Amino acid sequence: MSKVGRLVVLVSGSGTNLQALLDASADPSYGARVVAVGADREGIEGLVRASKAGIPTFVEKVDDYATRAEWDVAVAARISAYAPDLVVSAGFMKILGKPTLQAAPLLNTHPALLPSFPGAHGVRDALAHGVKVTGCTVMLADEGVDTGPIVAQEAVPVLPDDDEAVLHERIKTVERRLLVEIVGRMAREGWTVSGRSVRIGNHTGGEST
Ligand code: GRF
Repeated sequence: MSKVGRLVVLVSGSGTNLQALLDASADPSYGARVVAVGADREGIEGLVRASKAGIPTFVEKVDDYATRAEWDVAVAARISAYAPDLVVSAGFMKILGKPTLQAAPLLNTHPALLPSFPGAHGVRDALAHGVKVTGCTVMLADEGVDTGPIVAQEAVPVLPDDDEAVLHERIKTVERRLLVEIVGRMAREGWTVSGRSVRIGNHTGGEST
């Protein structure tokens, strides 16, 4: 990334991961700042958080387009207009296709230890399986569902009386800290991808080999 990395953050809900990035980037030494926030729906807390922080927002709804491919092109155009170094999908509940993936590297966060429990119900599926440890994963997105190269993971215990909401909150506390740490390090230290291996550090930008 450049000296201060430009981030576009995509959200679909409460936006607490977005808030964590906004808070971290208030410190210029963080190395990255949020230049725009995009969403796939109106009326969500994530957009309110962006507006309160004075960050420009955009909304592109799938239903406003004849095809998913057209929606994807529209999202990619919105993102490209902000020339980001990195796009962060922080609770954005849509799979993005090639146009968006070509616009800028896309970082995603997932509330389970991939490759276990991918998809929209990672917390529920882990609980239903009876695992004793789950966690969160920060990964680069590819065209699959939570299949991209893993950047960082952290484990979170599952406790006997957990329901989905309680477990998700415990995961999100860790997820926000991990996401902020990884985005900042990618911005400050650079990163490379070789096959499925992501390495942060000793490099000036994000590149695939
Ligand atoms: C996070 O756990 C994210 O991994 C999942 O949805 C949650 C979003 O939370 N896909 P928030 O909107 O950042 O509060």
